Amino acid sequence: MSPHFESINQVMAELSGCHYIADRALATVLFLSHRLQKPLFLEGEPGVGKTEVAIVMSRLFGTELIRLQCYEGLDASTALYEWNYPKQLLHIRLEEERNTEKETIEQLIYSPRFLIRRPLLEAILRSEEKAPVLLIDEIDRSDQEFEAFLLEILSDFQITIPEIGTIQAKKKPLVVVTSNRTRDVHDALKRRCLYHWIDYPSFDKEYRILMTRLPGIESRFAEQVTRFMQKARTVDFLKKPGVSETLDWGRALMTMHRSYLDEAVVLETMGCFLKYQEDIRRFREEIWADPRERVKYLGSQG
Ligand SMILES: Nc1ncnc2c1ncn2[C@@H]1O[C@H](COP(=O)(O)OP(=O)(O)O)[C@@H](O)[C@H]1O
Ligand SMILES: [Mg+2]
Repeated sequence: MSPHFESINQVMAELSGCHYIADRALATVLFLSHRLQKPLFLEGEPGVGKTEVAIVMSRLFGTELIRLQCYEGLDASTALYEWNYPKQLLHIRLEEERNTEKETIEQLIYSPRFLIRRPLLEAILRSEEKAPVLLIDEIDRSDQEFEAFLLEILSDFQITIPEIGTIQAKKKPLVVVTSNRTRDVHDALKRRCLYHWIDYPSFDKEYRILMTRLPGIESRFAEQVTRFMQKARTVDFLKKPGVSETLDWGRALMTMHRSYLDEAVVLETMGCFLKYQEDIRRFREEIWADPRERVKYLGSQG
């Protein structure tokens, strides 16, 4: 059953039922994106929960998630459709043996059976009964030409295949575009969308994420891990830890049957939340070597 969002509070409640903690600002753009049928553009540092929004929305709506992972060099045909040449060739040969007329063969091999559907075509075709969720992930990795092409698709959800004709989506998919902002995405694309920046979580949000994603974690321990991560993000590391790192670390500590942080365990498990050698060295030498800093990170329990 796909829910019809009546209010922003309902969006927040439904998401939290799916173990996704959304603040009011995010719930508001999701509500509007659903009601106005506008694509959602989510930008933010890696690991703050952008991709997960699309996954959770598809679960909430009980609909399919179609994912287009962007990368440098991604082109229209890889995103849309390709003709299945080997299959076409095979059929040409078979039909020639049967002495089928040339025109008939041509009609046959340019029919939908011979199309390889890529995510964008799939999203348009799948919208017959229930609109899918279309995730266009990490758009900042693709090239500007691809962005321009995407702009067209997002504006009318129809594509023209010269040999077949124009195909229009019956129901508009819910579109989630994400960017890690390794480069700026063009204004024209953003204009088509509702924009939302997902920031690193507040203390309260991060604590709730830990509690909902790591069943069995003790609340005081979750608090301690949260305080630590919030503090770690005030340092300008090469790569600040995201929510993924908090969850990975929490999971690792629980696997080690830990229920509180101390000086030693932080040193042993640092690799769960710092992923650059420079950051690790800096943390060890400039921060962890200082007793006053350790107290700030660990709180009174440490
Ligand atoms: N608000 C949130 N509520 C619950 N889990 C979250 C939240 N934000 C992030 N996560 C978790 O953190 C991890 C990283 O999220 P992801 O969506 O992959 O980040 P991004 O796409 O921004 O890099 C996932 O395991 C996700 O479930
Ligand atoms: Mg992502």
